[in-house]
Amino acid sequence: MRRRSVRSYSKKQVPKEVLDKVLEAALLAPSAGDIHPYKIVVVTDEDKIRRIAEAALNQTFIAQAPIVIVYLVSVEEASAYGKRGVELYSLLDVGASMENLMLAATSLGLSTCWIGAFDERRVEEIVKAPRGYRAVSLTPLGYSDHIPRAIPPPPKSEKIYYDEFR
Ligand SMILES: Cc1cc2nc3c(=O)[nH]c(=O)nc-3n(C[C@H](O)[C@H](O)[C@H](O)COP(=O)(O)O)c2cc1C
Repeated sequence: MRRRSVRSYSKKQVPKEVLDKVLEAALLAPSAGDIHPYKIVVVTDEDKIRRIAEAALNQTFIAQAPIVIVYLVSVEEASAYGKRGVELYSLLDVGASMENLMLAATSLGLSTCWIGAFDERRVEEIVKAPRGYRAVSLTPLGYSDHIPRAIPPPPKSEKIYYDEFR
């Protein structure tokens, strides 16, 4: 209920034990076959964070955060479930883990913003991803004094059906 996409961060550092809790929640997410076919790169290097912000269509607020979390899918691990594993499960797994991470962050007073708009190749290069890893999602992680008001969710009547699609 409190999670928001936050696009303004302070320079306040995130204590290690808080970061560890957030990462623990990320790995507690469900995953098809319990494979978790992804790696999570915790980026704290200022120059790398600035370059990631540039690679994300210059969404400069990303560079305000002290941490950027990058999810990379291993195509080889994901292919344990064939084409469906690569094209569907691995992305669902990352989505579940990202959401866990974001909810844990929110509960610990931190802010996040899911970032999908970025140049995958450039981000892979910045974090030195080995061949076969695809950067699929990232989020700044840090404290903010500017938590925006909730965007109203879509009306239930438009999104939720009972028994049949109608
Ligand atoms: C797959 C995905 C990609 C997104 N990419 C971006 C992005 O590149 N930049 C951004 O500012 N927000 C991005 N968002 C955040 C959405 O804009 C945001 O979730 C939506 O406007 C609802 O606001 P809320 O998260 O505060 O509820 C993304 C969200 C998702 C799930």
